[in-house]
Amino acid sequence: MPDPTTTATGNTLPEQVTLVEVGPRDGLQNETEPVALADKLRLIHELAAAGLPVIEAGSFVNPRWVPQMADSEAVFAGLQRRAGARYTALTPNLKGFERALAAGADEVAVFAAASESFSRKNINCGIADSLLRFTPVMEAARSAGLPVRGYVSCVLGCPYEGEIAPAAVAGVVRELLGMGCYEVSLGDTIGTGTAGSMTRLLDRLLAEFRPRQLAVHCHDTYGQALANILVALQHGIATVDASVAGLGGCPYAPGASGNVATEDVLYLLHGLGIHTGIDLKAVAAAGNRISARLGRASASRVARALGAQA
Ligand code: HMG
Ligand code: MG
Repeated sequence: MPDPTTTATGNTLPEQVTLVEVGPRDGLQNETEPVALADKLRLIHELAAAGLPVIEAGSFVNPRWVPQMADSEAVFAGLQRRAGARYTALTPNLKGFERALAAGADEVAVFAAASESFSRKNINCGIADSLLRFTPVMEAARSAGLPVRGYVSCVLGCPYEGEIAPAAVAGVVRELLGMGCYEVSLGDTIGTGTAGSMTRLLDRLLAEFRPRQLAVHCHDTYGQALANILVALQHGIATVDASVAGLGGCPYAPGASGNVATEDVLYLLHGLGIHTGIDLKAVAAAGNRISARLGRASASRVARALGAQA
């Protein structure tokens, strides 16, 4: 894992960036039509073959809340694991963790929010209660030897509360790291963040946390995701979440579009001379294939440009 020494005010970019591919979870959880298990598995296998080192493959939430993820056990059972790739899953509570452990997830993620209203809509409890629910998950994960990632949603804006203060985000990040998450991913769930608000947030967070404790998870609703990611890189953050073909959104964030497309982030990183070890054309091909299965064109600008050249 890279550990850049850049400070909040520095401009040194990380030499290497880890991409966390969230398309099979954050992307497909938002599809209105069910996606066949075989299509999910093919997508995950193609992404791993393209060199993506971390793939969020499913979500062990209440299937009545998110039916699109109800087959996550079957997804993990059907994985042909690629050496060196990590297959991860969301777990909102102990029940979810037990399902993830039995299914063979390599790592799990708990997810909180910086906004009280979003927390209630998304996981049916307030922020403080959500953190209490994570405590047994952390204990069980520690006993099982599984790393736990934390997410904080709505770090740059909430669909119900509007602006969110950086200090509120810092409070939730502090709790998640304190309970044992090895990293916290900062979710711009509705994509309203700008280079300005991302700078203000990271300046605040990096006064307290190290860059390698943080990741960014930008949705591209307002077309600002790449600019926001560049700001994060300039702050020394070296883990970036992205979704192949820009799949996704969030079922509890009205208007949220997909995450930034993995292809677009790769084009940015490679243009900056940052090493990823990932084959951009292979990712674009995987994104084009799943988009065709979903009956639409890839939302990645880079994939579309590459397709136009072919
Ligand atoms: P709840 O209804 O408050 O839970 O849901 P409960 O504990 O009262 O249990 C109610 C029923 O759900 C019970 O079943 C439980 O067994 C069952 P019953 O007795 O009625 O038959 N249940 C479960 N079943 C399977 N797996 C489980 C589970 N837990 C309870 N893990 C809960 C609370 C958190 C479970 C619910 O609100 C939920 O599943 N929410 C899912 C929300 C979600 O998946 N949102 C999208 C992911 S987050 C996201 O996309 C943001 C992110 O990308 C970052 C960003 O962009 O910001 C990460
Ligand atoms: Mg998301």
